[in-house]
Amino acid sequence: MLFSTLSTALVFFAGSVTALPWPGQPTVYAPATDLSNLAKLFPQSALPAPTEQLKYVLLGIGTQNYTCATSDDSSVPGTTGALATLYDIGSNLNKDPMAKWKLGSIAPLALALSNAPKTLEFSLTSQGYQNVAGHHFFQMISGANTPVFSLDKLQIQPQPLAPVSKLNATDAPAAACPGNNGLPAVQWLYLKDTKGAAQGGIDSVYRVETAGGNKPATCKGMKPTWEVKYAAQYWIFGPKQ
Ligand SMILES: *[C@@H]1O[C@H](CO)[C@@H](O)[C@H](O)[C@H]1NC(C)=O
Ligand SMILES: *[C@@H]1O[C@H](CO)[C@@H](O)[C@H](O)[C@H]1NC(C)=O
Repeated sequence: MLFSTLSTALVFFAGSVTALPWPGQPTVYAPATDLSNLAKLFPQSALPAPTEQLKYVLLGIGTQNYTCATSDDSSVPGTTGALATLYDIGSNLNKDPMAKWKLGSIAPLALALSNAPKTLEFSLTSQGYQNVAGHHFFQMISGANTPVFSLDKLQIQPQPLAPVSKLNATDAPAAACPGNNGLPAVQWLYLKDTKGAAQGGIDSVYRVETAGGNKPATCKGMKPTWEVKYAAQYWIFGPKQ
């Protein structure tokens, strides 16, 4: 009886207080469909301005993966990919009057807490950023190691998916949060599907507000494969609906 009352209460509240987690919280959630407030706060840079509709704003937390042919300064690190979990921050930020002032601190805080997973999870949850929308990874597609954004946790059919190419890049601002290795944050990027392979209403991705993730200039002292922790915001756009 108590249990069913509790369940009813949880179902009742599910729509209004999605930011508050509870034990056994369903992994499925409904992202905001209108991010027009947040779109006005798109981080400015030398990247070409977005022309499409803002669909998702996600916080990526993970690693940039690198390789080294030798462990001396005769080789330059190669990039093999990245692996990141994508948390939905846009659904909450769109209705947050403080969004403008929060945006620049979200990725640095996530990177700072990434060595303490429980604290990171608590921090994300306390801000209503705990919902995982999907994943970012690299995949061999037609012989090319391709960055992919897969929003595999969303109950949307077809599931939003964007294999992308790098169309533009610019250095992160000088004040951006450096990595655990002391190197400046990875570049900001403009990525877009150029092969008509995207689906689910998304096709371009901006990597902005980066923290960490960068590689040293040479392979001196590095292993054959290694990772650098990073966090970044991914602003995902698609055709207007
Ligand atoms: C990147 O975008 C800027 C601003 O739109 C443009 O001036 C520049 O030519 C672009 N670079 C590349 C490589 O497309
Ligand atoms: C990157 O590193 C992670 C963690 O070790 C690993 O799971 C993943 O497969 C690597 N990805 C790539 C593309 O190398």
